[in-house]
Amino acid sequence: MRHLITTKDFNKLEILELLGEAREFLDEKPRTFLEGKSITTIFFENSTRTLSSFESAAKRLGARVLRLDVAKSSSSKGETLYDTAAILDAMGPNAIVVRHANSGVPSILAKHLHCPVVNAGDGKHAHPTQALLDLFTIHNHFQGDIEGKKICIVGDIKNSRVANSNIELLSRFKLDISLVAPPHFMPTTSLKKFYKLDEKLIENTDIIMSLRTQSERHNKSIYASLKDYANDFCIEKNLLKDKKLILLHPGPVNRNIDISDEMMEDERTLILKQVKNGVAIRMAVLKKLILEKDERC
Ligand code: NCD
Repeated sequence: MRHLITTKDFNKLEILELLGEAREFLDEKPRTFLEGKSITTIFFENSTRTLSSFESAAKRLGARVLRLDVAKSSSSKGETLYDTAAILDAMGPNAIVVRHANSGVPSILAKHLHCPVVNAGDGKHAHPTQALLDLFTIHNHFQGDIEGKKICIVGDIKNSRVANSNIELLSRFKLDISLVAPPHFMPTTSLKKFYKLDEKLIENTDIIMSLRTQSERHNKSIYASLKDYANDFCIEKNLLKDKKLILLHPGPVNRNIDISDEMMEDERTLILKQVKNGVAIRMAVLKKLILEKDERC
């Protein structure tokens, strides 16, 4: 049985197939592939867009969705993860979508469950469907011609599971990655590193992926104020000028810290396209994992 814990769980061919299938799903028409199936979502960490994206994806495929309300669940009363896994399993879902503030939780659950587990974000570790939807958005924009395209990932890279998953996936698809961040947000890496977002860098890039400062994962306030950070790293029109490129952000955006109000309205900013693409790619992932399991039974 297959799970999606990190982007490495799918090979390149499988990913290209997922992108192809997701492209079909962009018509937003309801499908019946997962009729009679049940998908459980359990989000131990807050989320609006990823949770609703997975739930729309499941429903658009004809599946039923059971959302476990973690605030009311027994884990907040001290139940161990293993007991939670056993209870979830006993309900017999066809897939479980899980988000947790601790890295590794989806992979532990996967060892104890009899259905595919999809990681919807675990700590600083991984967020595979976000990276897949980002790749999908880039692939669609450049009509498949993505090898060698230059991408700058900007922001709190060290604390970002979105950055981790994208670095793995986009390197595999041979994008040329540069990391742009202040020293304390820069991970140890063999990739190209830049400590300033300047015009020369912008001139040489095809894609900017801006990330949110992950204040909830900082032990102390590292930048005296987010304003200081914004002075150096906020994506602004007067920096990009008329340069032909695309701007991505996984959301939620800290306006005028990550991206300026003006750039939020700019047609190079593809955030809403990413949201739409996210539902389609999650449909493709859920369909693949659930139907493949059925074939093997
Ligand atoms: C990201 C996340 O939760 O990891 N957001 C998301 O999935 N929509 C990025 C973030 O929180 O900054």
